[in-house]
Amino acid sequence: MAPIATQTPVSTSVAGKNKLVIEGELDFSSSVIAADLRKNNYENYKYKDLIPQYPETSWAPLELVEIPKDRALLADPSNNYANLFRDATLVRHLNPKIGTEIYGVKLAELDDTQKNELALLLSNRIVVFFKDQEDLDLDKQLEFGRYFGPLHKHPSAGYPVINGKEYDEVVAIWSDTFRGKQGINTGFPAWHSDATFEKQPPAYALLKIITNPSTGGDTLWTSGYALYDALSPSLQKYLEGLTALHSDKSIYEGFSKAGKHVRRQVVYNEHPVIRTHPVTGYKSLFVNPNFTQSIVGIPKSESDAILKYLFTLISTYQEGTVRYKWSTNDVAIWDNRPSLHAPTSDFDVELRHGVRVTPIGEAPYFDPNSKSQQADWNADLKKRQEAAASGN
Ligand code: SIN
Repeated sequence: MAPIATQTPVSTSVAGKNKLVIEGELDFSSSVIAADLRKNNYENYKYKDLIPQYPETSWAPLELVEIPKDRALLADPSNNYANLFRDATLVRHLNPKIGTEIYGVKLAELDDTQKNELALLLSNRIVVFFKDQEDLDLDKQLEFGRYFGPLHKHPSAGYPVINGKEYDEVVAIWSDTFRGKQGINTGFPAWHSDATFEKQPPAYALLKIITNPSTGGDTLWTSGYALYDALSPSLQKYLEGLTALHSDKSIYEGFSKAGKHVRRQVVYNEHPVIRTHPVTGYKSLFVNPNFTQSIVGIPKSESDAILKYLFTLISTYQEGTVRYKWSTNDVAIWDNRPSLHAPTSDFDVELRHGVRVTPIGEAPYFDPNSKSQQADWNADLKKRQEAAASGN
């Protein structure tokens, strides 16, 4: 098949009334773009400066950091996000349990009241997508992220170095990092929450995609609240008493194997298997196949069997999952505490490039008085039905 379109949308006039627009490469193997990329020639690449680097530095283990009061707790819930949505032209919830897409709002221009409402929205909707954020450059993205907490420095992912300045609070997402000969990603299991191996994992994450393949490269997010609610009551109870060991051992080895210098030694930290969200008070499942190694204090075979079940649930529970198709300059912001996400590497040799910052949060905890999101919604619905029935 001959290549019929380039990476930018092409309009083609055809006979009849409709104007046909085909976006994307239909023949990856022979496209000019793909051939160019195969040569790894980034000399004239627009974002050459943001390609990840792996400076040969060594970092001490992370100290505990003081985090600000969660910004969501500064928002007025009765306001219904009126400040955040002031300039919005479209707000679309992508699924009942997760994901909202917003058009018309410029992140670079948000004031603190709007950012607080955004944090509140995130604690409920988990991931929010902002379209057309070309004016949110790297410095603005860093400043935006710092409002939510001190930024995490990833021990192994590459970061940009611009004119000698190391942007070590940035993670550069770069499709070639783990790419094998056929363009297949040879990296890690996809599903994870960011940096759960830390004592204080990130509370939030902001990812901007600056170069997007012509098709593919979607990211999926799944709700830890919904995953908790998908378990039987007896399994919920059992898991609520347990902790699990998380480590960055797998990515240490992965980056090392890919020939990258890793800056910090491997760490191990124990976290509750079910954690409580500090804003909503909802319980969420908090294990992931990238970093959770074992459940503590039970036989290894039992831990392996339970984690296998939970990891399968994570990757198959569509009702709590949203799959997002990126456009260049989209920004996704997620609450990293009740969520897991997974990129897809289905775009062969094309380039996908993003920049992420990740504000650190509290050490995960479990509050026995916390609640299930679904039970809370059911109770709310019942109240409204009763009020409607009684004519109030
Ligand atoms: C990430 O894990 O933060 C990156 C997700 C993506 O590349 O879509």
